[in-house]
Amino acid sequence: MEIRSDFLVIGSGIAGLSFALKVCKYGSVTIVTKRDCEESSTKYAQGGIASVMAEDDSYELHIKDTLEAGAGLCNEDAVKLLVENGPERVRELMELGAKFSFREDNGDVLALGREGGHSKRRIVHAADFTGAEIERSLINAVRKNSNIKILENHIAIDLITKGKLDKNITIGSGDDSVIGAYVLDKNKGEVISFLSKIVFLATGGAGKVYLYTSNPDIATGDGIAMAYRAGAKISNMEFIQFHPTCLYHPEAKSFLISEAVRGEGGILRLKDGRTFMENYHPMGCLAPRDAVARAIDYEMKKSGDDCVYLDVTHLEGYRVRERFPTIYKKCLSLGMDMTKTPIPVVPAAHYTCGGVVTDLYGRTNIGRLYSAGEVACTNVHGANRLASNSLLEALVFAHRASEMAVQDMKKTPSEDIAIPPWNIGNAVDSDESVVVSNNWDEIRRTMWNYVGIVRSNKRLNRAKRRIDILLDEIKEYYWNFIITSDLIELRNIATIADLIIQCAMMRKESRGLHYNIDYPRRDDTNWKRDTLAQLTTKAKNTKP
Ligand code: FAD
Ligand code: SIN
Repeated sequence: MEIRSDFLVIGSGIAGLSFALKVCKYGSVTIVTKRDCEESSTKYAQGGIASVMAEDDSYELHIKDTLEAGAGLCNEDAVKLLVENGPERVRELMELGAKFSFREDNGDVLALGREGGHSKRRIVHAADFTGAEIERSLINAVRKNSNIKILENHIAIDLITKGKLDKNITIGSGDDSVIGAYVLDKNKGEVISFLSKIVFLATGGAGKVYLYTSNPDIATGDGIAMAYRAGAKISNMEFIQFHPTCLYHPEAKSFLISEAVRGEGGILRLKDGRTFMENYHPMGCLAPRDAVARAIDYEMKKSGDDCVYLDVTHLEGYRVRERFPTIYKKCLSLGMDMTKTPIPVVPAAHYTCGGVVTDLYGRTNIGRLYSAGEVACTNVHGANRLASNSLLEALVFAHRASEMAVQDMKKTPSEDIAIPPWNIGNAVDSDESVVVSNNWDEIRRTMWNYVGIVRSNKRLNRAKRRIDILLDEIKEYYWNFIITSDLIELRNIATIADLIIQCAMMRKESRGLHYNIDYPRRDDTNWKRDTLAQLTTKAKNTKP
């Protein structure tokens, strides 16, 4: 089966939906998304969107804070665009119907939160459910639009490029371009060929490659893995951000305790009540995330304790309940009243700073393949993302990509290429789904234990040996059994693990989120540059 449209959008978080809403005035749009439309990291965002909205704030300050967090690796042009376009994009969201929090003392002025690394209050939020509010308003607008078709429970398997179909075109070269994607309809078990003039990759991040993560189950790095297999440039995958404060509770599945809690005065403490962040950073509990996560990791290893504590018991109870209703209810459901007892917290994988390399218009090195959001690497974040700059990045660069993609679409003739249907070869139904779950578990444990907050050459080598074996095993399994969404995601997280290890092994220094005890210092002479992954034979999209 074949489906055609002018724009194919893969993913329905803030990046995919906002792009679709902009381009739908110029052509037909199909959005494929692998679960329900709203299921995305966007939906779970708590803190908010950083943007210069206050009179005492300035673009210069937001730019300076972003560059400082990024530890010398941000693309300064991208940061300037991010910051200066922010207020307009936030206002657009409000026009679409997103209801953000306003000040109690002045209902005409947005209430602005504070988070780590920010020198000013600049976080636009809807209490502590900002992402759900954004997702709601975007989906509402998309569903009203007859030019946009949303296909839920459709998981993209691989991009279709001219280079894949025509041996005379080198994959990933300047002559190569994307023409669509193979997508599995999960309900019917059928693989569909989607053809389009433009493909917009908006599949989000890859937190699920780690055992402990704040990310929802969709975050398996599919877009990065698909783009990599298709010859796109992938950069800076070593910079995985660990959020310092996820709830420590067997039933909480790494539920996030927003950085805004520290922004409103929350204090990090050890089990005996002592504070410790003042020993690690001049900004104390409001230091950038890399510093806080490393400090917690160090203290936990030193004491042997399972967690540290985030204390808001000194703040007024009703204010805490009003500002953080979701977090308050979650803690209470687990028997903890955060206004009375400190919250047990641990760091967990949270954000993928690297990804598919794009220019300032969301263009990748593959013709007509655009990308924005967490899957992409515009390099606004450099070696460490500043809190609440991610929703903003997705909005700003999806907007910029939409402008360029519309022009590109208009000059692209409709292709009349015969796409070979998905070939199942001799694949049979798998009777061993336990293999998938075992491999999945082993990858996530390996990454957590050896490629986590603190790395070493020995640990990276150990991880590489294991992931190499798993890649071979998964490849064989992938071609022998009929494809399922579990298998697609397993193949992708193995590829992501390989990419993170590759980039981490390349960077022989410590900077931002990448800390290697064998090279404990930052080395600007040799390493003030990005890492670029190489397409390995193991990861290639060919039969073993
Ligand atoms: P997502 O919102 O993750 O959307 C990805 C979409 O792609 C999903 O619909 C998914 O189902 C779909 N998809 C994935 N693979 C496939 C496939 N193979 N086929 C089809 N569809 C696919 N950032 C901030 O700036 N401020 C915050 O306060 C904040 N809080 C956060 C809190 C949590 C708990 C988390 C997890 C993240 C938070 N972040 C925050 C980060 C931010 O939410 C994400 O970076 C951002 O939402 C990413 O948006 P996106 O559109 O790129 O991807
Ligand atoms: C948070 O609310 O702490 C998450 C903010 C972010 O990831 O930017």
